[in-house]
Amino acid sequence: MTDTLSDLAPEGRVHRRVYTDADVFAAEMERIFRRAWVYVAHESQVSAPGDFVTAHIGDRSVIVSRHKDGEIYAFANRCTHRGMKVCAARQGSKKRFVCPYHGWAFATDGSLIGVPHGKGYNGKLDPKDPALALAQVARIQSYRGFVFASDTPDGPSLTEYLGPMTRAIDNTVDRAPGGEIDIAGGGFRQRYMGNWKLHMENANDLMHASIVHASSVDSAQAVADELEDGAEDHALQMFKGNGLPLSAMDQVEIHGFAGGHSYMGGFYKEGPITQATNEDPVVAAYRTAMIESYGKNRAEDIMGWDTFNHLIYPNLILNPKHQQMRVLQPVSVDCTIVHSACFRLKDAPEKMYQRSIQFLSALNSPASQITTDDIAMFNNMQTAMDESDTEWVNMSRGLGHDQAHDDGGEIGEVGTSELPLRAQYTAWREFMRQQPR
Ligand code: FES
Ligand SMILES: [Fe+2]
Repeated sequence: MTDTLSDLAPEGRVHRRVYTDADVFAAEMERIFRRAWVYVAHESQVSAPGDFVTAHIGDRSVIVSRHKDGEIYAFANRCTHRGMKVCAARQGSKKRFVCPYHGWAFATDGSLIGVPHGKGYNGKLDPKDPALALAQVARIQSYRGFVFASDTPDGPSLTEYLGPMTRAIDNTVDRAPGGEIDIAGGGFRQRYMGNWKLHMENANDLMHASIVHASSVDSAQAVADELEDGAEDHALQMFKGNGLPLSAMDQVEIHGFAGGHSYMGGFYKEGPITQATNEDPVVAAYRTAMIESYGKNRAEDIMGWDTFNHLIYPNLILNPKHQQMRVLQPVSVDCTIVHSACFRLKDAPEKMYQRSIQFLSALNSPASQITTDDIAMFNNMQTAMDESDTEWVNMSRGLGHDQAHDDGGEIGEVGTSELPLRAQYTAWREFMRQQPR
């Protein structure tokens, strides 16, 4: 790979190799995922010493663990003996990590603490040798409970990297009357046979919704016509939201930032999703709790921020209003796993949490009528770009009409602008220009 990699994504278009070439994928794992701040865990998953999750920095598995000194550590999930994956569980609690192959034991900060039959090394193996510890990720930092890792010792701090996206995390946490959130249960995982960027590009693409999701829009409309209280159902609201006319989609604000981040304004306007009505008893109880905690004005500011899909480049999609997130795990150039989970808001009615699970199930579960349609697109785009020698992908919708915004980024002239895609490739070029470490 040469430093002409960035030429594969000039402004407004992208070469198909960016999605199909395994060498480009390998370069992305080195140059983007090792350098960026990559989301790896939420502190609620590792609240007590010994608690751990296994996460991914790009295509590499890491263990994120709370040690007895109270700190969170992240280290390679790869045994320093003969290369075995040390921990196969996705999360749990352990006193130590014991490699399943020959039993080497590692503390919850990654250091080597035990070698069975150590005398077989005739005194030539020193367990205290730092090279035998599980390899530490260079930097790990939290922002309001969201834990990010960057496997490069230098570069911007986490808050510099997040920039205006800190507001999305702030709003996610502030929506809890008790000021804390936790990932209470499990989540969904879905694998698709397509490049990781296809999902990131899709998430803030308002142009595709009414076309790709037409079948679920139609079926939701048919059901809503029959049900008097159809407006109370989250999935119905969402399916119908995707069917807004393009003229209405163009009214939605779409924001992009040079760091690759983006988000859009909310476009599900009816029913309990909007939390706009005091008539819904769950929302009314939630609103009361929020006002008690924050006062009326601040509570309404927090609840009134109507946005959708905050992409924190390169692997996190946050949805503060719907108390959920998605995390991308690139597996190979043509395979990606998407993890999704809900947040429980401390001191909010339990029913809020149940609603967010319903919403996530309708939007991002293997049974979702919406995600299934998107994944069909990703699979078929991957195959078509792989098979065809047509070189370029076009993403010029709205190019030249993006305007500077006082949040430090740009806002699309219309909601269907491909500004979020261009923002991702501005960051992509910047990362790919840098030589590997
Ligand atoms: S590979 Fe881990 S103990 Fe041998
Ligand atoms: Fe979609």
